[in-house]
Amino acid sequence: MHLVTLKEWSSKKIGEMIDSSLLIKRSPEDYQSVLEEKSLAMIFQKTSTRTRLSFEVAMTQLGGNSIYMDWISTNLVLADLRDETRSISGYVDGIMARVLKHSDLETMAESSRVPVINGCDEMYHPCQIVADLMTVKEKKGRLEGLKLVYIGVHNNVCNSLIEGCTKMGVKITAVTPLVNEASVDEELLKKAKRTGLYETSMDVKAAVEDCDVVYTDTWVDMEYFLDPKFKAEKERRIKLMLPHQVNKELLGGSDALIMHDMPIHRGYEIAEDMIESPNSIIYDQSENRLHTAKAILTKLLK
Ligand code: CP
Repeated sequence: MHLVTLKEWSSKKIGEMIDSSLLIKRSPEDYQSVLEEKSLAMIFQKTSTRTRLSFEVAMTQLGGNSIYMDWISTNLVLADLRDETRSISGYVDGIMARVLKHSDLETMAESSRVPVINGCDEMYHPCQIVADLMTVKEKKGRLEGLKLVYIGVHNNVCNSLIEGCTKMGVKITAVTPLVNEASVDEELLKKAKRTGLYETSMDVKAAVEDCDVVYTDTWVDMEYFLDPKFKAEKERRIKLMLPHQVNKELLGGSDALIMHDMPIHRGYEIAEDMIESPNSIIYDQSENRLHTAKAILTKLLK
């Protein structure tokens, strides 16, 4: 079993993963040796703070070990991905990979003899969304019937959030004046629309009026953020997106929880005071990456 996208995961399975994460957070001592003698290869083609740390610490705290592999310093740069993946899967019990292209992750899942976990690609970020839904359930006590508004660029996180929310009975409204071309998945959106739980809107004020959660994310993907070739596009995006910055004025009197999957660009997609507001659950969301990484690894590698 892999975790390449949430599309292959049923509502039941996602729900179990969320509940298991909450249990593990409550009693970590009960899980100290569940992955004894198990190894995880962690392959990164892009930068990471949370994904790398959460999976590495999770493996250690579950009694196993992890090996960090920077894509560029391995023979993944020059060999056939199928051969390298098959070879890697002969050494370890699981592979977690952050790659530029989702199609590479699919190739890895097809070639691997052990479970492959998507640590974020240009189309999906399933592990993040399991942590997000866990955090909402932890704070609100339930998921079904809640209303979440995503304000930002339609990207990989937005795709997985739509998939996760609609599967867990959360109504999601996407206010996305811009779409990342590389993240487009029409099939996912069509399916989500059929649930009656997903809609788009350009009226932020109306969307946030009675919502429980406001979620935002970076306007520029990590691989482009410091790229001089992307400078003009970055400036275009900032100009277009600034009126949609999550701030007090935009949210009016809303008392919704505030979420951001991080890294944060303070003063761009979200204002300083929103990050520090009592409604912000951003740092809980970040910490919960650890507990959900443990639940995912236990389910897939045990
Ligand atoms: N949210 C998230 O995936 O963080 P990193 O990019 O730091 O791993």
